[in-house]
Amino acid sequence: MIVPRPPRGLAAVLTAGFLVILPSPVKATSQPWPSQAVSAVSTPLPWQTVQELALSYEDQAGCLAQLALDEALSALLWNRLGPQLTCMLEEGELSASWLELLALPNCREGLLSRYAAYTQSHPELEPEQVVLEVNMGLDRPFYQETQEISLSPGEVDPLVLVNKYHALARDYVPQLVPLSGLGSGSLAPEAADAFAHMVQAAKEDGVSLRSVSAYRSYATQKTTYNRNLSQYSQRFTDTFSARPGHSEHQTGLAVDINSASMLDHFENTAAYAWLQENCAQYGFILRYPQGKDEITGYRFEPWHYRYVGKEIAAVCMEQGLTLEEYWAGQPSGWGDGTRVLLEGQVLELGAPPVRLDETWYLPAEELALALGWERVEEGTARFACGGRQVEFFPGRRSQADGVTLRFTAPALSLGGRLYLPASQLCAILGADLEETEEGNFFTGNLASPGEET
Ligand code: DAL
Ligand code: ZN
Repeated sequence: MIVPRPPRGLAAVLTAGFLVILPSPVKATSQPWPSQAVSAVSTPLPWQTVQELALSYEDQAGCLAQLALDEALSALLWNRLGPQLTCMLEEGELSASWLELLALPNCREGLLSRYAAYTQSHPELEPEQVVLEVNMGLDRPFYQETQEISLSPGEVDPLVLVNKYHALARDYVPQLVPLSGLGSGSLAPEAADAFAHMVQAAKEDGVSLRSVSAYRSYATQKTTYNRNLSQYSQRFTDTFSARPGHSEHQTGLAVDINSASMLDHFENTAAYAWLQENCAQYGFILRYPQGKDEITGYRFEPWHYRYVGKEIAAVCMEQGLTLEEYWAGQPSGWGDGTRVLLEGQVLELGAPPVRLDETWYLPAEELALALGWERVEEGTARFACGGRQVEFFPGRRSQADGVTLRFTAPALSLGGRLYLPASQLCAILGADLEETEEGNFFTGNLASPGEET
């Protein structure tokens, strides 16, 4: 099983939010919620006021059904967009093809405006193609807005994506071992080991493989690129020579085998045929295949192989994918990343947390039950635990231990569930909740409701 993870440089785009609630015993007092967090009837608090919404998942599912989107797709869209989706549907902002795009597993939340612009400039493309191409960065010219890859000195990442959008730092040098007896240069240990096995296996099949160029430092690449520039135009040079920082050879994971010149026609040799058949078994891929120039930015290089590990190599070689296409097709995790954790364990609430206007909302009854409160009477939202009682209502009020609490932010009714702002809900249930700097994370202390201390 491949465990997909984003290439360096894309991590920020793909990181999902986590809602974390950490427990610690909190003293049960006569007023168990922090008075500065929730106050009684008359004093409204300076909480952020959210737009009053009474939209439901069912409404939205109905709208989507009319657009012939099935239930699973509706649920995914709901998890991704929440009540915003209903607003967009009602305001006619969503076309069927935009919905299709939003539901693609590899659709990334941070790239929505780029998908929209690319759809406009390329109306002939299907949503899948729009997402794939924008994920690869192809909506922007090569070398225009490059991202620096964060690898510490010596660190080796076989999955790293180095190309015309992603650059290695000038001073990055991987851990290296010489390719003794296997040709010139050195590679990162894992790649060197895999290369040695591949050379041996080829030899047993009567095929001779040797490295003619492996690791190249930033400085070496700079010299090479500049030498090419002195002979050819930049436009032409860029089709076969990487600018410094952008060469895979700096990773210690790439190796040119037997040749590095089109004049040799390596693609017509038995060695090339053997590599096509076998390189993936040793974790290597043909990195710049024929006909993929617009994706990789380079013309066909039949000699350049990149170590990525056996699993990804098998996928790329069997499906004819470049490393760019592989990464662009990976699920983004959007819509399935927000969870509530208690003592490091995921709390199964049966309904996802929802974020609206920078405020996190949690399903109130589900959270109470998950924390060990018991429903006092079927058909009501009244819960008891450890001598305490709470009752949730739609709108702006709830009751806790006989006191009515009025909130500045209204409860939301989503998918037939009552959602309360996380901070207010946790205060009622005896929790101490804090938002972290990232904004997506919360840590805090939850009283164990049954605990008498
Ligand atoms: N020839 C490849 C693209 C490089 O310069 O890294
Ligand atoms: Zn090369």
